[in-house]
Amino acid sequence: MPHQVLVIVGSLRKEAYSLKVAHALAKAAPASLKLSVETLQGLSFFNQDLEANPPADWLAFRDKIKASDAVIFVTPEYNRSIPGVLRNAIDVASRPPGKSSFLGKPVGIVGNSPGPLGGVSAAMELKRSMSGICGPILGQPEIYLTQVGNSFNEQGEVTNEGFTKVIQQYVEAFAAFVERQKKAMA
Ligand code: FNR
Repeated sequence: MPHQVLVIVGSLRKEAYSLKVAHALAKAAPASLKLSVETLQGLSFFNQDLEANPPADWLAFRDKIKASDAVIFVTPEYNRSIPGVLRNAIDVASRPPGKSSFLGKPVGIVGNSPGPLGGVSAAMELKRSMSGICGPILGQPEIYLTQVGNSFNEQGEVTNEGFTKVIQQYVEAFAAFVERQKKAMA
């Protein structure tokens, strides 16, 4: 049975590069992983007033994470940080206190940007924020995809050979990382 990996996309944009990167990761995954791409469409705002009786969409999102063996975030960068929609998703899934849906889950963080820095600031911010509410975060290899605007064709497929290689290497390293964590926890 392949390990189930939820790939959370930090952009709601229909043509988001982050979504294309997520699909490229799913396509490149080895047989030991099954990647499911999760967009955050329709996830309502976190509001502490609603915690006693959480909305169905929060519960469904938390359940998807809990049912997965691992999580990969594909994040764009907004103002040197993560987009609000991703911030909201993390807040929703981190509750109730001490019961984060991410607890114990191995996590991968993939930064991307049409700019030259590959979303590294967002990725670092995400790593810092996640560190207290999830399992181990893959530290090496890091992945920050730069100039993503030039790297896909109209069908959303990767056209840049360097990208294909880096994505492949990352998802293979992530598969080995998940395997190591599963063995350590067995
Ligand atoms: C951006 N963008 C951006 N890019 C970057 O590399 N660093 C940044 O700090 C920012 N800041 C930023 C703020 C806001 C509000 C927007 C809308 C955009 C550009 C961003 O990388 C670009 O729009 C990407 O295409 C967004 O990712 P998706 O939607 O293509 O995945």
